[in-house]
Amino acid sequence: DAEEDLRPRAPIVTIMGHVDHGKTSLLDYIRRTKVTAGEAGGITQHIGAYQVTTEAGKDITFLDTPGHEAFTAMRARGAKVTDVVIIVVAADDSVMPQTKEALNHAQAAGSPIVIAINKVDKPTANPDKIREELAQLNVLVEEWGGKYQSQEISAKTGQGIDELLEKVLLEAELLDLKANPERRAVGTVIEAALDKGRGYVATVLVQTGTLQIGDILVAGSHYGRVKAMTDVLGRRHKKAGPSMPIQVLGIDGAPQAGDKFVVMETEREAREIAVSRQQL
Ligand code: GTP
Ligand code: NA
Ligand code: MG
Repeated sequence: DAEEDLRPRAPIVTIMGHVDHGKTSLLDYIRRTKVTAGEAGGITQHIGAYQVTTEAGKDITFLDTPGHEAFTAMRARGAKVTDVVIIVVAADDSVMPQTKEALNHAQAAGSPIVIAINKVDKPTANPDKIREELAQLNVLVEEWGGKYQSQEISAKTGQGIDELLEKVLLEAELLDLKANPERRAVGTVIEAALDKGRGYVATVLVQTGTLQIGDILVAGSHYGRVKAMTDVLGRRHKKAGPSMPIQVLGIDGAPQAGDKFVVMETEREAREIAVSRQQL
């Protein structure tokens, strides 16, 4: 509504592409080199999503999940969490079936695409061939007069990755992403599992509002009171605002990737909704 206090939020990015073209390597490189920046001795762990701050001081949230499956599962559940899609194509290979599938997914979701032409450190890399194959699919890169931003990168050496992040931010700026942090949190479950010792642990992405310790949330057919929240460095948080991915303890089960979560006023309300969904 018009009264809402909308503030800029970080873009949420998914990396997709054909098998072995370097999705995991790129996510790992970014996590390793950007998440820990300024954090003495911070050791990253896999929590399904992480947020980085670029050189220019801008935040970007990455969904750290095997691209297609997560994206497809979430879309099947009606969840639209991704703002910008990076499509990785290995420069020593070709545009492949899953590259096309990724392009189709991103286009169907209406998400801006940035092409990452990966593995350019390899002697057999041929980025021009990739640009040519993309052009044949009507995906014309900017350098060739088209609308698609692309960047030659190496997920091995880190070449081009800062530039890639800048291009992601350029696309994001056009989207003018905003959310109201001053309301009860609403978001999406990225992944969840039973952790021996800690109980059920869910990584959620806050999309609007601010999630706080003590909040009562319903996620799919599960509910609970938020006992603790930790980020990708294992740091504890009392709050998580828009675009912040956070691991939550205190839910009574494992909701599914793509389930929406909402914060309720009372535990009773939350339980009723969760129970009614369990009966479906
Ligand atoms: P799947 O998850 O199996 O679809 O693969 P992926 O897209 O996540 O690719 P992954 O990151 O596992 O990389 C596949 C192989 O390519 C690995 O052996 C990586 O070490 C290698 N690789 C990835 N990026 C680069 C790169 O920029 N340069 C070089 N030389 N090798 C790379
Ligand atoms: Na692989
Ligand atoms: Mg992988």
